[in-house]
Amino acid sequence: MAEKFRVFATCDIGPALERLRQRGYYLEIHPAPEAPPKAVIIAKVASGIDGLITTLRDQIDAEVFSAGQGKLRVVSQLAVGFDNINREDANRFKIPFTNTADVLTEATAEFAFFMLGSLARKQWSAEQLTRNNQWGFWHPYLPFLGDEVTGKTIAVIGTGRIGLAVIKKCVGFDMNILCYDPAYQNHAYIRAIAELMELRLARGIQKEKTRIEYVAFEEALRQADFVTIHVPLLRTTESPTPTYHLFNERTLRWMRPSAFLINTSRGPVVDESALAQALREQWIAGAALDVYEKEPLPVDSPLRDPAIEDRCRLFPHFGSAATITRLSPDPDKGMAGRCVQGLIDVLEKNYGGDPKQMPYVVNKEAF
Ligand code: GLV
Repeated sequence: MAEKFRVFATCDIGPALERLRQRGYYLEIHPAPEAPPKAVIIAKVASGIDGLITTLRDQIDAEVFSAGQGKLRVVSQLAVGFDNINREDANRFKIPFTNTADVLTEATAEFAFFMLGSLARKQWSAEQLTRNNQWGFWHPYLPFLGDEVTGKTIAVIGTGRIGLAVIKKCVGFDMNILCYDPAYQNHAYIRAIAELMELRLARGIQKEKTRIEYVAFEEALRQADFVTIHVPLLRTTESPTPTYHLFNERTLRWMRPSAFLINTSRGPVVDESALAQALREQWIAGAALDVYEKEPLPVDSPLRDPAIEDRCRLFPHFGSAATITRLSPDPDKGMAGRCVQGLIDVLEKNYGGDPKQMPYVVNKEAF
């Protein structure tokens, strides 16, 4: 039996938590579905817990780490993104934190692609028409048409795991692919995709020749029919290549009036008031958003403007929200399983107790 570690989870992450109980851990779970106030997290940490399970809703910084000084040993986050955890503070207090990369890659990539298709083909407006009994006749072009996805050009902004998974799906839709990443480029993957495109053309699987290449940000935005965002949120103090408001009035104006923007990364990568203006004034044709500058989306958000309702699809941070992806206790399949394994690795000193060797620890540089 493992040591009786004390763990506080800021929300119930499902059956994977059973593993901790089976190992004799003492587990407390915040009882409400809403995030606990920060004061509750601080009080729990100060009470002497060994491990903290968090989600992207919790602000974890020096206040939390200092409350746990001498006792808190790990923060285990149920998400791939970790912009809610202050990395510098975690490093200063020498607290490893873990994330759940990989297991949500395909789920998030497919959701982004479904948002894209649904937006371009006006599925929301079409269903409204049917449900509201406004479908009076079949007609070649009335009351509206959507835009094809197949054969179009997509700009993939951010070529980390999720961006690359989106690229893979775009190949099946015969798309031209423009890649841009401010910090990381995977040329081997892009070459493999180019070979795949050539093979598909040679075998008659696709009719037109297509291309994939890395280009400059402005070129990607100027040429694309679709722009899909897959960068982490990095503020100016955090990176030489920040992504905060990467999409703003100036850069949104580079996009074509017929182009669509899809964001499943982090809300603050897009300046929402500039985007609302872009949609109102039709600098771009539409946007589908899963993430927002403030979540849940405030009631007075300009994105809720009824004037842009037909071209602005809004989802509730749902990209990874599929059953196995979110809940599987298997660390190779589910976020919950990986989150629990990351916590166990640190508390039970797996990998010789060296956080640098632990696969799910993010801030390896601190050790
Ligand atoms: C979701 O947004 C995540 O970062 O996992």
